[in-house]
Amino acid sequence: MSCPVRFNYSAIMVVFIVSVKLMTCEASEGESFPETPKELEIQRGLKKRERECIECHAKEEPGKIRDWAQGLHARSNVTCIDCHKAEATDKDARDCPGTEKYRDLKISPVVTPLDCSRCHPAEEEQFSVSKHARTWTIMTDEIKDPWMKGMNNEIERAVGCNICHGSDISSGELTVENWPNEGCGRKNPDGSFGSCVICHTTHLFSIEEARKPETCGQCHLGPDHPQEEIYFESKHGKRYLAESDRWDFDTAPDAWEPGVNFSAPTCAVCHMSGVGPLSTSHDIGERLKWEAQAPLTIMNKDHDGDKEREKMITVCTQCHSPRWAKNYLERYDDAVENYNENYFKPVKDVMDDLYEKGLLTKWPVFDEEIEWSFYELWHHEGRRARMGSAMMGPDYSWWHGFYELKHSYQHFIKLAEEVKEQGHGSPVYVPGAGGKNLTPSKINPLPAEWDNIKNLKGKPIKQ
Ligand code: HEC
Ligand code: HEC
Ligand code: HEC
Ligand code: HEC
Ligand code: HEC
Ligand code: HEC
Ligand code: HEC
Ligand code: HEC
Repeated sequence: MSCPVRFNYSAIMVVFIVSVKLMTCEASEGESFPETPKELEIQRGLKKRERECIECHAKEEPGKIRDWAQGLHARSNVTCIDCHKAEATDKDARDCPGTEKYRDLKISPVVTPLDCSRCHPAEEEQFSVSKHARTWTIMTDEIKDPWMKGMNNEIERAVGCNICHGSDISSGELTVENWPNEGCGRKNPDGSFGSCVICHTTHLFSIEEARKPETCGQCHLGPDHPQEEIYFESKHGKRYLAESDRWDFDTAPDAWEPGVNFSAPTCAVCHMSGVGPLSTSHDIGERLKWEAQAPLTIMNKDHDGDKEREKMITVCTQCHSPRWAKNYLERYDDAVENYNENYFKPVKDVMDDLYEKGLLTKWPVFDEEIEWSFYELWHHEGRRARMGSAMMGPDYSWWHGFYELKHSYQHFIKLAEEVKEQGHGSPVYVPGAGGKNLTPSKINPLPAEWDNIKNLKGKPIKQ
């Protein structure tokens, strides 16, 4: 279990909450929303500066302050300054209208995992080694990242990829492109990566929210990673829908137990929560045997996959027999092998052969039709087949998965034959790829051949 710094916590509890007149809102007749609260009365011992932030911001942004007032932080005397104070030398330090008068007080709207780690060191430590925190690096890695190479442009990444994966605010400059952003691997000004608010949103910072599957579903959905849809197809998800209004979601970690507080697992239960003998972990790569997001499924690279499998079985056996759990997960292993051997490896061999013979151009990655076909085969249907088989979503395993894989395979082979007959791939023009700052030069230098794509009207690109 985690051990936040409990700075004289019991003494704090005596002072108790900001007398939350702030939340006494009167609903006038015929209105669906109560009137904005007008009064904030603070009756406990807060320093002048701490009070000022709350009082002024309660007028400026009442919604935000009501959130904070209802969360455990307000109850524990953790105020705005605890999270938003910046050192004058911080890259993101600045003033707000209420702090200008204090020479020695700077604030920042950016609050990073390192800021939270002052009081929650264990959570930060686990999170920082997880894939969630490392995804910016993974995403912008030149070798692994064909997505960047000629399919999209900066604005498309800013409104798409970066919202889930995180933007680069490391310079401390907050621009239209990089801010606001609360992506899971955001590159922060203090050298840390990621954001805790992907699961505990501001300013409630609730444990209940993080335990609910919809929270993870903000990012884990759609054609290439439909974990949320799979969950709601599963019996576990059905149970959640049928009875979670009677479950208890805010019990302390390690005391939140199957059969007592809930009767079916949510994403957090299987991937994070301290159930049975297991401890809560903020490293979501634990408990996984495979890397099923990859083109060719490989064993978990960050942990010992076989040992992690045992942890997952420990989760299942809080509610199921060992035979049930083991058989189910071994069936998943077989599905992984089926995908690797019968679908991925054969198409990969064909692609390698076409590149080797010089029939396809390696750069740009997405300039030939068959390259799109290959990409979708592993990234869309190939992932769906695997994820559905891991998490009890038969519609995703079969109709959106293996069935679609068969279909794509046939299409892929047709395209490969066409390439051989023509002596080159069928070129496609990629609109939007030539937009502003196509590839940030630091990440991915622009090769000279790229200019050719602008003239590409049905002709193959010459390397
Ligand atoms: C437990 C830490 C914590 C406390 C306490 C806290 N904040 Fe925040 N605040 C955050 C985080 C995290 C963000 C999101 C910033 C990010 O993405 O880096 C944020 C964002 C903000 C923003 C910018 C985002 C927006 O919606 O406009 C403002 C303004 C803000 N907080 C004001 C306040 C005020 C005023 C208080 C005191 C009532 C307060 N905060 C208390 C952590 C905190
Ligand atoms: C007198 C009113 C007032 C007081 C006192 C005040 N603020 Fe602000 N603060 C504002 C206003 C107004 C804004 C919005 C300014 C803007 O967007 O230009 C703001 C903006 C912010 C932001 C967002 C800054 C950004 O660049 O997005 C944060 C964070 C913040 N305040 C935190 C604090 C903290 C912490 C304190 C207490 C030390 C505090 N404020 C005291 C009025 C106040
Ligand atoms: C100054 C210390 C301090 C800072 C900084 C701080 N917290 Fe907390 N946090 C606490 C205390 C105290 C509690 C209540 C005691 C407990 O449950 O551990 C708490 C509780 C929590 C909880 C549990 C809430 C619940 O519903 O049970 C979450 C989640 C949380 N904090 C997240 C964060 C995040 C995210 C940040 C950074 C944005 C942060 N905290 C920054 C002190 C802090
Ligand atoms: C809706 C949120 C979302 C968007 C938008 C999104 N991704 Fe992802 N991405 C994810 C999730 C979730 C995963 C994890 C998939 C899994 O494990 O099943 C992922 C996985 C990845 C991976 C694989 C990482 C690994 O470990 O190998 C890369 C690379 C990636 N995304 C890049 C991108 C790029 C580039 C874009 C935009 C062109 C993008 N993503 C858009 C959510 C998103
Ligand atoms: C991927 C989602 C996710 C992210 C990201 C995340 N948390 Fe959590 N957090 C959870 C879940 C789920 C729980 C409840 C665990 C349980 O059920 O055992 C939790 C519990 C907590 C608690 C309560 C611990 C206690 O002992 O009361 C704290 C504090 C906390 N998280 C802080 C953080 C901090 C700080 C960060 C960023 C470094 C963070 N979380 C990032 C999902 C997340
Ligand atoms: C803000 C978006 C976002 C949210 C919210 C989110 N994730 Fe993720 N998650 C991602 C991305 C992006 C990746 C892929 C990271 C990579 O591999 O580069 C990922 C990867 C994962 C992985 C695979 C880890 C690995 O090592 O292969 C698991 C498991 C996971 N997330 C579980 C969760 C759970 C459970 C929750 C909710 C409690 C959650 N995520 C919430 C974006 C998110
Ligand atoms: C009943 C437990 C259970 C639930 C509930 C569950 N998962 Fe999973 N999840 C698994 C298992 C088992 C695997 C495969 C583990 C392995 O590799 O051996 C998995 C795999 C994953 C992966 C793939 C990691 C990779 O790239 O290989 C992601 C991402 C993920 N889950 C996210 C989620 C999200 C998000 C939710 C909720 C919407 C969720 N899971 C609900 C058990 C669960
Ligand atoms: C908190 C309790 C709980 C946990 C933990 C749990 N399950 Fe379940 N599971 C249930 C319940 C309840 C059902 C529905 C019972 C029924 O239909 O007989 C169910 C149903 C299932 C089914 C039947 C699905 C179908 O449609 O045929 C499978 C398979 C299954 N669980 C596998 C697992 C695996 C594997 C794990 C661990 C990764 C796991 N469960 C973890 C409670 C749990």
